Amino acid sequence: MNVRILGDPVLREISQPILEITDEIRELAKRMLVVMKETDGVGLAGPQVGISKRIFVVCADDGIDRVFINPQIIETSVETCGYEEGCLSIPGYYEQVERPKYVTIQALNEKGRRVTMETQGLLARVVQHENDHLEGTMFIDRIDSKKKEKIEAKFLNKTSSKGA
Ligand code: NI
Repeated sequence: MNVRILGDPVLREISQPILEITDEIRELAKRMLVVMKETDGVGLAGPQVGISKRIFVVCADDGIDRVFINPQIIETSVETCGYEEGCLSIPGYYEQVERPKYVTIQALNEKGRRVTMETQGLLARVVQHENDHLEGTMFIDRIDSKKKEKIEAKFLNKTSSKGA
């Protein structure tokens, strides 16, 4: 299981819902948590490991491992805040991203139990960032378009020069 990098088309796909929470899905979540920790991430979404399914894992400031399956953000605050975001799929780049300060998210956990969470701080930030991945959206889509183009050019050039 390796982390996919900007330029890989799977990162731009819309992920499919998970129809049944099987042992295979639980195993996937476990492996994703391992990869996330090995790479010093605070969140990791299915597409980032090449799996176009609606699942992400998070371990934010409270140190609790959380699995979100078929998540839905059901409420967002009007109040927003900025935070310097990075992404395991865009290594080495960090930019300020403005997002709602609080969000309520509903999802199934790895046991298939429906969980509703009101989030704030880093957790609110990470669940929004990861939820974006399931829609094929990355944090660079939420920054100034010139900055985005510069970052994209770096990765897309890298990919194409491999064949040369
Ligand atoms: Ni990311």
